[in-house]
Amino acid sequence: MGKVIAFSNQKGGSGKTTLSANIAVLWSNSGYKVAVIDADAQKSLTYWIEERKKYYGEEDIGISSYNFDIRNINEELKKIKRKYDFIIIDSPPSITYDTLQIVRASNKVFVPAQPSPLDLMATLPFLELAKKERKNPIIILNRVMARAKLTDAMILRLRYAGARIARSRLSSKVIFAETFSVGRGVIDISVTSDAAKEIINAGNEILRNL
Ligand SMILES: Nc1ncnc2c1ncn2[C@@H]1O[C@H](COP(=O)(O)OP(=O)(O)OP(=O)(O)O)[C@@H](O)[C@H]1O
Ligand SMILES: [Mg+2]
Repeated sequence: MGKVIAFSNQKGGSGKTTLSANIAVLWSNSGYKVAVIDADAQKSLTYWIEERKKYYGEEDIGISSYNFDIRNINEELKKIKRKYDFIIIDSPPSITYDTLQIVRASNKVFVPAQPSPLDLMATLPFLELAKKERKNPIIILNRVMARAKLTDAMILRLRYAGARIARSRLSSKVIFAETFSVGRGVIDISVTSDAAKEIINAGNEILRNL
């Protein structure tokens, strides 16, 4: 039975879609059967899938994608769970009934967050919601700047709020945006780049926590 994981956070622009795409590529290239669900009305992940089809060819993108009404998430997941090792849900930046449905339907929730005060403020309520649903959410710090004192301060505050934080972090790198715009992941370009290593570490840490 496939594992369902969600990248969720009410904070916009925290890296949900970037992580969804890059982890999907990582696992697909590692030989797993992977599906993605774009649950965000902005449809950024759907755009990425379309660009990926243009780049690699309609049948050769290595990842299945589904768009369905989130109100029917449980029935829809039931239909496809057997076909995949992993189903990745890219959540909308909100705390709505849809988001709650996504959290409930997921085996595990990962919460991308930038280490900034504003991001922290928007992330804490979402963590509360995920914890209430007994999902034991794990934060993945994204766009981390090297040697920024702010990052350490944010980590302390998150820990104080009882959050679990992944050891793996993603740093701020243009390659994440560049590859996304052409339907690719950083792993597609090279598996030895710094960005690729960060995604490999994050992917492995996610697997260890499922
Ligand atoms: N580590 C990174 N380094 C550089 N740019 C990044 C990184 N992570 C994300 N970005 C860029 O930041 C922007 C927001 O990222 P992304 O779309 O993944 O966030 P999101 O949480 O899905 O946003 P939304 O809430 O709007 O759906 C995008 O332009 C993306 O390319
Ligand atoms: Mg998004």
